Amino acid sequence: MSDGLSIAPAGGKVGLLLVGLGAVSTTTIAGILAVRKGLAKPIGSLTQMGTVRLGKRTESRSPALNEFVPLAGLDSLVFGGWDIFEDDCYEAARTAGVLETAILDQVKDELAAIKPWPAVFDRQYVKRLDGPNVKKGKTKKDLAEQLVEDIRRFKSQHKLDRMVLIWCGSTEVFMTETAAHQSLAAFEKGLESNDTSIPSSMIYAYAAIREGLPYANAAPNLSADVPALVELAQQTGAPLAGKDLKTGQTLLKTIIAPGLKARLLGVAGWYSTNILGNRDGEVLDDPESFKTKEESKKSVLDYILQPSLYPDLYSDLHHVVRINYYPPRGDNKEGWDNIDLVGWLGYPMQLKINFLCRDSILAAPIVLDVALFLDLAKRVGFSGIQEWLSFYFKSPMHARGLYPEHDLFIQLMKLKNTLRYIRGEPLITHLGREYYD
Ligand SMILES: NC(=O)c1ccc[n+]([C@@H]2O[C@H](COP(=O)([O-])OP(=O)(O)OC[C@H]3O[C@@H](n4cnc5c(N)ncnc54)[C@H](O)[C@@H]3O)[C@@H](O)[C@H]2O)c1
Repeated sequence: MSDGLSIAPAGGKVGLLLVGLGAVSTTTIAGILAVRKGLAKPIGSLTQMGTVRLGKRTESRSPALNEFVPLAGLDSLVFGGWDIFEDDCYEAARTAGVLETAILDQVKDELAAIKPWPAVFDRQYVKRLDGPNVKKGKTKKDLAEQLVEDIRRFKSQHKLDRMVLIWCGSTEVFMTETAAHQSLAAFEKGLESNDTSIPSSMIYAYAAIREGLPYANAAPNLSADVPALVELAQQTGAPLAGKDLKTGQTLLKTIIAPGLKARLLGVAGWYSTNILGNRDGEVLDDPESFKTKEESKKSVLDYILQPSLYPDLYSDLHHVVRINYYPPRGDNKEGWDNIDLVGWLGYPMQLKINFLCRDSILAAPIVLDVALFLDLAKRVGFSGIQEWLSFYFKSPMHARGLYPEHDLFIQLMKLKNTLRYIRGEPLITHLGREYYD
């Protein structure tokens, strides 16, 4: 065992800044407040409930993950954020309709004290939304400077030691990289000339990263996943993670597909459909926002199944993903998957999955974990893309020229080995020959 990396202390106050106080953000904040008061358990959170095995299986050493690495405590978190609606966090949580009033009322004062700052917003990028709480500025550069002021004001008001910013705003329209995204210089020019290829989420990402804050993207839009902002992150020492929280149907896909592939079972088709009735569902009802989500959801199977390596099993796979906006269900999504499998001698089989999930209940522990791990990354001195956090995302950010790792179990191993590496513990390879020597 080596000494591990030097880690700045986890103490002090940490600001958790969220863009968009919608279903995911309010469920995260209200949940953390409820856990702090001992009203509920942080189920689904690796940082709060996970353990990490150290050394050989015979040593029986599996400390709690948050005792193994120094993480900020839940009591140290202070919440702030932006939204295009003026509702405070309590009202927003009521509108989102994820948590029951009985639990919200027990943390009402703390929630009601969180009032969103005016947002950077342009309907060009989210067509189904409009709201009054929006900043004005001549250029996108002006808007970025206003966000930087918000960040600095919040820090001094609450005497914060560190901050993390996470985009939990709506999914923006589908965009691909342009010249303005290729270098920091081009990007900053684009901010001044109001380049249309710089949407609101990139302006937030720019402001956060320029301030050296860790930044994550809970949605699938490009946001910080462009060379210009990765370059800025390396300059300012900002760790980055994204994109698109891996919850619901895609979470199950990345659990089941690696298993089918491990046994070399063929897949001829995978048809996924969902009904969803929250505001996210409404935004995704716009074909341009849906296209961003669809790309994020569809890439998963190709990378896991590797049809180029296994053409007989996966080269003809028909993968279809549908999201249907259906208001009566609110945040309680229902997903159906039909998987057409191929077995020995080409015999067909079918697998049906019906997942009645709660989207934001699956998302909230991820937001918490990503915030705490990004804060750790910052204290360790990691900057730029944090691929070890791909465990949490549908379209993990990754280095150019590398394919992303989507298999949930490889992702978890990568995450835990990164923690072992940080602490100087031997990495676990699962070879295990020594038990039989
Ligand atoms: N719920 C999940 O499980 C889940 C999973 C993966 C990804 N996501 C993504 O996370 C994001 C949030 O999801 P949600 O269910 O909370 O949606 P939501 O619609 O309830 O909340 C989004 C909030 O962002 C606000 N917003 C939009 N643009 C903004 C801007 N430019 N500045 C400030 N605020 C802005 C909206 O007003 C809204 O209140 C969505 O993009 C969604 O696709 C959610």
